Amino acid sequence: MPANIPSPGHPAVEAYLANGYDSVVGMSSRFAAAICTRLLRLQTEEGVTGPIAEIGAFEGRFFIALAHALEPGEIALGIDIFSWPDAQVKDRFEANCLKHGIGPERRRTIKGDAGAMTQADLLAHAGGERLRLIHIDGEHSRNALARDLTLATACLGEGGLIVLDDMLHPGYPTLMVTVQAHLEANPDIVPLCVIDRETIVGATKFVLCQRAWFERYQTRLLEIFQDWIWPLGADFEPHWCLVLSQDTRLAEIV
Ligand SMILES: C[S@@+](CC[C@H](N)C(=O)[O-])C[C@H]1O[C@@H](n2cnc3c(N)ncnc32)[C@H](O)[C@@H]1O
Repeated sequence: MPANIPSPGHPAVEAYLANGYDSVVGMSSRFAAAICTRLLRLQTEEGVTGPIAEIGAFEGRFFIALAHALEPGEIALGIDIFSWPDAQVKDRFEANCLKHGIGPERRRTIKGDAGAMTQADLLAHAGGERLRLIHIDGEHSRNALARDLTLATACLGEGGLIVLDDMLHPGYPTLMVTVQAHLEANPDIVPLCVIDRETIVGATKFVLCQRAWFERYQTRLLEIFQDWIWPLGADFEPHWCLVLSQDTRLAEIV
């Protein structure tokens, strides 16, 4: 594995992160991919199963990593309007999936506006099963994020995780307002951890989980990611959660 990246816990993910990830056009960081795929492994260890979805699959960089972390029979849904930056982006998504080992039996490609999707639509795409992880990386407006968060929360299975991209990004400063409002309106959902940014493009992600699962997951995160824990944590007033970073230094004050 590249330096300073946690092991994703799956040989297929490890191979893709080492040899394929950079060749697929995309925006999420490899650090975040390693952590999120290790979280999928953790779910498997805890008996959490089911399909996953990405809103904003683009050319498949992050999607392929997540899909490689699934168990046999589980599927990944790639949702995107697939019109940006050109009409061929869907073909490139499918070609990248095939090239990097995610065949059609392991995925569903869904061309559409996530904001117009109902809970019933998404669950139908998932074969009637609730989702164990949903990565939200679609339209970056407050309204769109609010809709995506509502949809994800409604479709989440027991022990499920919601991953939010481009949090605390200098280009999207208002998204945090939507996240905070969603957390206040849904007290059963809490931040599990913050995945610190690698670069301005490979931005910070938040991972949310059900409150009932927080302690159980955090106990495992403390051991799995011990080398990447920034000591002070994240203060969501009054909830605290772990910050996972490649730079765990504190400010030098003396
Ligand atoms: C930043 S890119 C995603 C990058 C990708 N997740 C990765 O990590 O490489 C954002 C994607 O969201 C898609 N998108 C924007 N609005 C959307 C919507 N309303 N529904 C579904 N996808 C949307 C865009 O087409 C674009 O492909």
